[in-house]
Amino acid sequence: MREHPSPAPHPKNPTVDLGQGSLAKPLLEARGLTKKFPGVTALRDVAFDLRPGEIHALCGENGAGKSTLIKLLAGIHPHGSYEGELRVDDRAVAFHSVRDAEGAGLAVITQEFALIEELSVAENIFLGRAPRCGPGGLRVDWLEMHRLAAVLLADFGLALAPETPVRELGIGQKQLVEIVRAIDKKSRVLVLDEPTAALTGQEVAVLLEHLRRLRTQGTACIYISHKLDEVFALADRITVLRDGASITTLATRDTTIPAVIKHMVGREITDLFPRRASSAGDATPPSRRPEPPILSVRSLTAASGKNAPPFLRDLSFDLHAGEVLGFGGLMGAGRTELLLHLFGAWGHRVSGEVTLSGQPFPSPTPRDAIARGLALVTEDRKRYGLILPQPIGFNLSLSSLARFTRADGFLDAPAEYLANQHFFSSLRIKAPDQHARVAGLSGGNQQKVVLGKALMTGPTVVLLDEPTRGIDVGAKLEVYELINRLTAEGQAVILVSSELPELMGLSDRILMLAAGRIGGEFTRAEFSQEKLLAAAMGRRAAAAANDQGPRTNAQ
Ligand SMILES: Nc1ncnc2c1ncn2[C@@H]1O[C@H](COP(=O)(O)OP(=O)(O)OP(=O)(O)O)[C@@H](O)[C@H]1O
Ligand SMILES: [Mg+2]
Repeated sequence: MREHPSPAPHPKNPTVDLGQGSLAKPLLEARGLTKKFPGVTALRDVAFDLRPGEIHALCGENGAGKSTLIKLLAGIHPHGSYEGELRVDDRAVAFHSVRDAEGAGLAVITQEFALIEELSVAENIFLGRAPRCGPGGLRVDWLEMHRLAAVLLADFGLALAPETPVRELGIGQKQLVEIVRAIDKKSRVLVLDEPTAALTGQEVAVLLEHLRRLRTQGTACIYISHKLDEVFALADRITVLRDGASITTLATRDTTIPAVIKHMVGREITDLFPRRASSAGDATPPSRRPEPPILSVRSLTAASGKNAPPFLRDLSFDLHAGEVLGFGGLMGAGRTELLLHLFGAWGHRVSGEVTLSGQPFPSPTPRDAIARGLALVTEDRKRYGLILPQPIGFNLSLSSLARFTRADGFLDAPAEYLANQHFFSSLRIKAPDQHARVAGLSGGNQQKVVLGKALMTGPTVVLLDEPTRGIDVGAKLEVYELINRLTAEGQAVILVSSELPELMGLSDRILMLAAGRIGGEFTRAEFSQEKLLAAAMGRRAAAAANDQGPRTNAQ
């Protein structure tokens, strides 16, 4: 594992000294919380307290109970559905609904998006509290609402028109709009469940800056993240949950990242990016080997529609068996669009050619793509990756049903069951059994189901879009090992990741995309965060961005 320097001391909060076991009374306190779901005890006897003006991080592996804890605080799991006590300002409270919690000054942003897709960005930000005008304040003051929204968005560095319907936003932008809304409500306590999972560098920096600013104004914050460097840059204290129990609460300045990881997983993790077999044992990188590439892309230009500006411009690259080809770039650079396009799920090909295993691969449908050996792991698992109300097994085999269909047209249920069982246990999905509904799984375990679904199709090329988003260190390691196993078996992987250490740790080569073009290509020896970022933001990219026109889709 990389060495983490111990964190720099925090800018002192002017009003509350959190370092010396502050005497400030907790603003919010949880005592003896126990929450049971059928077959799972999500929280057992959890203790937690939040002081005024502190940022308190919750850390723990997938399924540790972090989201469940904040759902109790948010009134989503109402009073009476759990044991234990919640106290605000030293008084016992009973939240029966989200409204009750909001009334007590808590604003909670959950892992599930809570925006209304059909409304505009401004309408979502001011939902239920739109500025009014006219006699008796009966009319919504649209002008004022749009003006206020524009100010808030600009303050967050979001280049979004307030009138944009939320359904047109990508996942990262939605996340930011939710945060803007919650922050603008001026709540006493802001609760953020993995707010940066869908954000890239610049947005994360802006968000962290805002949270620090809010802290100086006295707002307290509960912050859940699997990104420990972020936690250490931000939090005053850290509470670690493991298997539903609160293990410890530490002052950030008195601990280290490895120590927190150890509390989280109950063991030490020594190698965060296990060296890949191909790079360790074999001196010739896959891209230099004589065999023809598995996937070849030439001068690919693609747009979302006939008259839309292209989201990919003149892209050419090869992917070889056993290779992990990383794609980096800023949000909106076209990485997700590229994967979706290769998979036949997005856009229209303006020009260029794609060859798969030596055969032409003209504009496919996702069904063709799967049949030809392509698998896609989407970045937006809830929207595109899973059927949430259905069981784990149902989701795992969803893309492989053709394989389990017998000659008479019926499903070979025992074979399907066995295959599901194989992936359920080899991916170590945490649930009572494969019949559990996906909706009840923690975020990381849902991600494993999406991975399992892709792998079951037996792909030769796996397209991974942010495959470790929202999953814990232990599970990340499992995904990394899985990638190594795939490439050792001769499969090829395209990896999109916004986390540069991950991208550099896993890729054989990295292509940086900037405004739909390749802004730079790097081999392992050339990897460095500075070079990659420079390529992502290069001058050429900036020039291209200017003539890109309005953003159209998902990223
Ligand atoms: N609505 C539900 N129905 C059934 N089980 C649930 C439900 N919500 C949570 N659980 C279970 O409770 C446990 C804790 O889940 P929780 O979502 O709180 O974990 P988490 O720490 O937030 O994980 P992650 O980091 O993956 O988001 C898990 O085993 C999960 O499957
Ligand atoms: Mg969670």
